[in-house]
Amino acid sequence: MIRHFLTLRDLSKDELNQIIDLAIEMKATHKANIQEPIFNGKVLAMIFDKSSTRTRVSFEAGMTQLGGAALFLSPSDTQLGRGEPIEDSARVISRMVDLIMIRTFDHSSVERFAKFSSVPVINALTDDYHPCQLLADIQTYAEHRGSIEGKTVAWIGDGNNMCNSWINAASILNFKLNIACPVGYAPKSTLISRKNNLIRIMHDPNLAVKNADLVTTDVFASMGQEDQQQARLKDFSGFLVDHALMKSAKSDALFMHCLPAHRGEEVSEELLEDQTISVVWDEAENRLHAQKALMAFLLNPT
Ligand code: CP
Ligand code: NVA
Repeated sequence: MIRHFLTLRDLSKDELNQIIDLAIEMKATHKANIQEPIFNGKVLAMIFDKSSTRTRVSFEAGMTQLGGAALFLSPSDTQLGRGEPIEDSARVISRMVDLIMIRTFDHSSVERFAKFSSVPVINALTDDYHPCQLLADIQTYAEHRGSIEGKTVAWIGDGNNMCNSWINAASILNFKLNIACPVGYAPKSTLISRKNNLIRIMHDPNLAVKNADLVTTDVFASMGQEDQQQARLKDFSGFLVDHALMKSAKSDALFMHCLPAHRGEEVSEELLEDQTISVVWDEAENRLHAQKALMAFLLNPT
């Protein structure tokens, strides 16, 4: 059976933990320069309808480091960009490569693509989810503080693709998630089952970070929402994460941000650069290791 990775819900708890463990192991073997070329002859197609630094570099470098190759496909150069149907593109591209990674707008586009693909499809960010980032974030938490199970995470800001993926992670891995967002910017309510008392939506950042083990945020306006930037700056007033807000969290709480960050908007410059609290550079690096582990899992499903 082909396994796709469109949201974290495509993995069981055991599989998610298995990928995180493998990511930590692959990081060590990479640093020791003893990684085997397990993707020898394998090709990853990378379809990007939106900009990227971390995602593109980590997938391409990861594939190369393990003996495979990655193809960067932009809509300005492919027939997909000229209107060739997703279903046709999926059938064609998947006959030539071993894995496909897509970053696009509508989540339904990756679902349609996966339905017609004969190889695994990875969601590298849609308007609704960013599951690859969560793999790196869970790995980063594990490396700094151990298992995230039973901990409290505070999400401050927009109920966006990252927030939705944190919701999925909390449901699978059993940690508390306090979401503080301005009125009108709450995440998808359909994601949170009524039986789930681990996830709470509120509007006061101070309340959300109370006793949190981890505080995380993201830009106020995501890719595709650039025209809302000014309105959102106003609506998100009071949602800056800084040292003052972190004081309400646990004394050893970490700060995460998927990056790119807008200093002075959702996070203060001082907090982002405070290496005793902020683990944003580790998160970015772990995209490389976590996605290598993900690709190994998808190419050799157990
Ligand atoms: N965090 C993240 O996905 O970064 P890029 O947009 O640079 O890929
Ligand atoms: N929410 C952001 C994440 C960027 C990695 C966006 O979608 O633009």
